[in-house]
Amino acid sequence: MAQRPKVFVTRVLPDAGLQLIEEMCDADVWRDALPPPADVLRQKIADREGLVALLTDKIDDALLGQAPKLKVISNFAVGFNNIDVPACTERGVCVGNTPGVLTDATADMAFCLLIAAARRVVEGHQYTLAGKWKTWEPLGHLGQDLMGRTLGIVGMGRIGYALAKRCRGGWDMRILYSDVFSNEKSEMTIGARRVDLDTLLKESDFLSLHADLNDKTRGMIGAAQLQKMKKTAVLINTARGPLIDQKALAAALRDGTIFAAGLDVTDPEPPDKDDPLLRLPNVILAPHIASATVRTRDNMAMICAQNLLAGLRGDKLPAWVNPEVAGKRRK
Ligand code: DGY
Repeated sequence: MAQRPKVFVTRVLPDAGLQLIEEMCDADVWRDALPPPADVLRQKIADREGLVALLTDKIDDALLGQAPKLKVISNFAVGFNNIDVPACTERGVCVGNTPGVLTDATADMAFCLLIAAARRVVEGHQYTLAGKWKTWEPLGHLGQDLMGRTLGIVGMGRIGYALAKRCRGGWDMRILYSDVFSNEKSEMTIGARRVDLDTLLKESDFLSLHADLNDKTRGMIGAAQLQKMKKTAVLINTARGPLIDQKALAAALRDGTIFAAGLDVTDPEPPDKDDPLLRLPNVILAPHIASATVRTRDNMAMICAQNLLAGLRGDKLPAWVNPEVAGKRRK
């Protein structure tokens, strides 16, 4: 890299990655708290070779068409449903993501939502703050037990497996999963059993979503699926909001079709002000924070910087979403 390559970074990232990017590149960093509007993003990347994007930045073919010099997009996330990857490949643009480093933090958050929703922790907190706690109540605040129950995992990848391992080892749960692929490691180490989605819905006490968002998985948990779940079931989503039909979920939580839900992701993000979920006591809503620990975000920033720099140099990306672009990368 004779001259420092020009890059655009759509948000301030942890220093662990941003310092390296600023040292090695001519970096324009968007310093607002909110994402750059689409027209600003379009202008910003018009003459840039590299882009660091977040899951809130939509990168489609039309946008790519306005960025003729772009060689690499480094997404500060493991998920990349914000990017039209086939369009990037077609145009010779490399795409990187941040797998692995956020597995434990995300599994911890899924478990946190699971136990908090099952034991009605947030509801109890609000009850206490509202001055409603008058005495110890034999019949009040009853939740669901965890020991020995059945955990259903939709998408037994890295994060699904990490959650299943916690629940098997710590709470002696039976582990079922549904996935297009079988996960032999989970079957060998924690006795997980692969079943079809219907069986998973019917048998799970806790159902946790870890699937990618794509045309096949969008809306995969709707009214019909919720009807098949146990009345005592708790639904957890730390993956992507649109996996769930949110209106159907609100109805199911309101009429007792399922017991509770813990969501780190919604559709849209943030949820609309009039979303019925915001007024239900048996749902916990977190603002997409599953990877939000200091160490995890530092690690994500480092991988993100390494992907960007490798893409600019013409090297192999450490975490490469579209290695099939190799033969036709932009020079
Ligand atoms: C991801 O990485 O895809 C998460 O949603 C944010 O960390």
